[in-house]
Amino acid sequence: MRQHDAPTARASDRRPSTPPWWADAVIYEVYIRSFADSDGDGTGDLQGIIDRLDHIQGLGVDAVWITPFFPSPGHDHGYDVSDFRGIDPAFGDTGTFQRLVDELHQRGIRLLVDVVPNHTSHEHPWFQAALAEGREGSHYRDYYLWADPADDGGPPNNWVANFGGSAWEWEPHSQQYYHHSYLPEQPDLNWRNPHVLDEWVDILSHWLDLGADGFRIDVAHNLLKHPDLPDNPVLEAAARQDVPAGRVRSARGLARIYDMDQDDVVDLYAHLRARLPRTRSGEEPFLLGETVLDNPDRVERYIQTGRLDAAMWFGTDRVPFDAAEVARVLRTPSSGTSGRFGWFLSNHDRARPASRLGSADRALAIAAAVLAMPGPYLLYQGEELGMIDLEIDPDTARDPIARRAGELDVSRDRARSPIPWTDQPDRGWPSTEPWLAHGPLPEHGSATTQHHDPESQLNRWRALLNTWAGLRDALPPSCAVVSEGNLLILRRGDLTVQTNAGPGPLPLHLPEGTEILWRSRPHGSPQTLRAEETIWSRPPAPAR
Ligand code: NOJ
Repeated sequence: MRQHDAPTARASDRRPSTPPWWADAVIYEVYIRSFADSDGDGTGDLQGIIDRLDHIQGLGVDAVWITPFFPSPGHDHGYDVSDFRGIDPAFGDTGTFQRLVDELHQRGIRLLVDVVPNHTSHEHPWFQAALAEGREGSHYRDYYLWADPADDGGPPNNWVANFGGSAWEWEPHSQQYYHHSYLPEQPDLNWRNPHVLDEWVDILSHWLDLGADGFRIDVAHNLLKHPDLPDNPVLEAAARQDVPAGRVRSARGLARIYDMDQDDVVDLYAHLRARLPRTRSGEEPFLLGETVLDNPDRVERYIQTGRLDAAMWFGTDRVPFDAAEVARVLRTPSSGTSGRFGWFLSNHDRARPASRLGSADRALAIAAAVLAMPGPYLLYQGEELGMIDLEIDPDTARDPIARRAGELDVSRDRARSPIPWTDQPDRGWPSTEPWLAHGPLPEHGSATTQHHDPESQLNRWRALLNTWAGLRDALPPSCAVVSEGNLLILRRGDLTVQTNAGPGPLPLHLPEGTEILWRSRPHGSPQTLRAEETIWSRPPAPAR
């Protein structure tokens, strides 16, 4: 048996007061361009989301996170923003945004805006002003990170961009390099300049004023860099293998010590939080950080009280279908904080779980264990349908990783194919040519087919989230996770989750009177946990 470090729940762990709404919330990620297209231009839009709110509400989620819809030249599909307060006309306008907020709120669903504070588009007026000011400039110039060439005339250090090539771009007019963690069209902001924080307080206040309930903060770990710009150490080949996808190979060859996750980056979130207004309904805005780090202890720093509410822990997005491996990454913060890890199996940058793990059954079995962990679960659109990866065609690949670095195997297009609303070849999209090709139909068919099939992936998810909604508020913020051979067991208060990650059935030993709350595969007997199945149960009433 492998024992892991999450403490066993005790009665004293019970929360004294009602937990905040996000503590165990389910947050549905809408990748806007692939969700639903209302006007037939091949790209999903805000009105498309409004048109499909029944689907979102029917799932039983608590909030929706919408990927960037701001004006953008589109070099990184919206993560290169040229106006942080605007709405790209391809997605709608302020009126559409307002209607979406109102419709969501009427249905009891909150809205999170995906903000990108690490970088701007090179077309952003700040960057254009920085270029115009030149090397002697001191206002907008200092919004970005500039450096003179090294002695040999090359870039100032060995930092590599996540999407390939040097992280420094030569700017001939001023004879200096500027830093970009992603594409050269995405210059990084200088968060050591207090004016940048002032700007972001204003930008977030703008969206709160329009009705947002919180934010997903893009690459929250990336905002500060070491001021002396030292070289990053070069990694041994063996150490590179474990680095997550979403970065080209060359960016996995360095230990990322100086260009991200600086010790003081977490202080920025305390400053930001302290200056933000409340939401329209009078709540503190919810702050969720995207923290792409290999070490959960480093992630914990972001969720200490007063900083972020939740920070994504990138452990379960690449875990194999293996009980011990899953148990290893199911951690709770060790340092006692009200903040929580954000859990997920997938997002618009990662492979689809049904493909990565091998089947829709496996994906649901693992998701049902991860969901029960303390902290919000981020459900990426299409996961509820068991969508599988799009096969990448080199001629139509859209992701800059695939197009520029030529690394099709890490292309993020695979997880971005449009939602199949119907089984027809056009998948219910009004245009025959969506911005990215339709993928294969999931095992259980389109959203419409699954809606009518009580045993579909969609209806199993609905039942799971319905069960979760009835349980979670009584659960403690701690849990215990163990693996015994192919069996994964998670205990959190009254809830026991058992997952069989093996190829054959396992006997189920449920004490007399145990209530089976939900199981990931239909039918089945109370004596057996079938292969690739998860069961949620709780003890007989007197024992509770
Ligand atoms: C993380 C986002 O999820 C990804 O899609 C984007 O390319 C990078 N951050 C850069 O903004």
